[in-house]
Amino acid sequence: MPRPGAALLLCLVLLSLPEPPAAESPLQLPTPQNVTIYSYNYQNLLTWAPVKVDNGSVLYTVQYNTLACDWWEEINCTNITKTECNFTDPDIKRFWTITLRVRAELGQVKSDWVETNKFVADKNTTIGPPVIVNVDSTPDSLFLNFLHTVKEDTLQYLVRYWEQSTNKQHETEWTKNTRIGLLNLKQLTVYCFQIRAKVQVFDDNIGPLSKTKCHKTAASGAMRAGFVVVIFVAATVTVVILAIVCFLFIQKFHQVVKYWFQPPFKIPPHIGEYLKGAEMPVLEELQNNCAEEDPWDSLSVFSSAEESQSLVSDTLNTNVHSNSRSIESEKT
Ligand SMILES: *[C@@H]1O[C@H](CO)[C@@H](O)[C@H](O)[C@H]1NC(C)=O
Ligand SMILES: *[C@@H]1O[C@H](CO)[C@@H](O)[C@H](O)[C@H]1NC(C)=O
Ligand SMILES: *[C@@H]1O[C@H](CO)[C@@H](O)[C@H](O)[C@H]1NC(C)=O
Ligand SMILES: *[C@@H]1O[C@H](CO)[C@@H](O)[C@H](O)[C@H]1NC(C)=O
Ligand SMILES: *[C@@H]1O[C@H](CO)[C@@H](O)[C@H](O)[C@H]1NC(C)=O
Ligand SMILES: *[C@@H]1O[C@H](CO)[C@@H](O)[C@H](O)[C@H]1NC(C)=O
Repeated sequence: MPRPGAALLLCLVLLSLPEPPAAESPLQLPTPQNVTIYSYNYQNLLTWAPVKVDNGSVLYTVQYNTLACDWWEEINCTNITKTECNFTDPDIKRFWTITLRVRAELGQVKSDWVETNKFVADKNTTIGPPVIVNVDSTPDSLFLNFLHTVKEDTLQYLVRYWEQSTNKQHETEWTKNTRIGLLNLKQLTVYCFQIRAKVQVFDDNIGPLSKTKCHKTAASGAMRAGFVVVIFVAATVTVVILAIVCFLFIQKFHQVVKYWFQPPFKIPPHIGEYLKGAEMPVLEELQNNCAEEDPWDSLSVFSSAEESQSLVSDTLNTNVHSNSRSIESEKT
């Protein structure tokens, strides 16, 4: 007996029986539920809830058709175990109107197909906001520089902005530029902004606004100059006040200050004696010894102990090479 006949017979038998609940029927799998398309920046994903069975692993198959063609095409989602299908495929043009369908399969048992709504990527995808790369700020404007991952000629951008303290919102014109200037702003003021993108193939497909970001405008040259002047004046005033305070202080405590700054200077007695007695002859003798070969550059008259002592040691050092013998004899 040929197969179609057997199938027909089985069908008739089943029809004559009271209809069992679909999930328990061994000959029919339940259809996948919650079949949904997510599409963001032209990344397209079909998802569905898993079909639960007691044993065995359910396989799923996804197909699509276009308005132009009557038949169903396979995508790379045939006999898959995952409950999602990435149908981002350059072969499926963004402006095509397509329908997808999915069914479950367990061995020879298959579910019915479940179809999605009509999908046109250009209309149905969500165009995400661009990513702001940086913000240039001047005293009266902010320039936003941004990037979009989507490659699409009709992409345009718009910025909504407001002064943080007022919440009165403004919007720029739609533009294809990836740099938008917010002009005529106040200096040193925080402005907040959101940005959105759209594509325009049939009607506008306008994406959602980005998260809010805020940025401060710069200080103007005049304000910066003013700031410098203020600092300068403040510094000058401080110096003058300090000078006056010092002057008054000195006036009032004249005696105290005089004592602090002019303590009577005394040569320690032992050094004084040393200078008077031993020192001079040594110098004289040294001078005599050196006079022939190594004449002095200069010789000063000393008035204090420290000076004379350092001069003596200098003299000893500088003459050590040429006159070492005489110094040795002096020491012994
Ligand atoms: C389908 O989605 C709804 C709402 O998100 C949820 O309540 C339901 O459980 C889902 N069905 C399945 C089979 O997952
Ligand atoms: C599922 O289990 C039944 C019995 O419990 C068995 O007859 C059948 O072959 C199983 N199916 C698979 C796909 O393992
Ligand atoms: C199809 O999917 C499989 C596994 O997910 C992958 O290895 C293969 O390269 C894909 N083929 C095409 C044409 O995308
Ligand atoms: C998918 O599985 C069915 C049987 O379950 C088989 O006939 C078919 O050839 C498979 N297709 C692919 C592409 O593996
Ligand atoms: C879907 O496929 C596209 C192209 O193959 C790929 O760029 C993208 O990352 C995939 N998305 C997911 C969620 O796997
Ligand atoms: C695509 O958008 C149209 C109109 O906005 C809507 O009717 C349709 O359900 C959407 N398609 C999908 C798969 O969501």
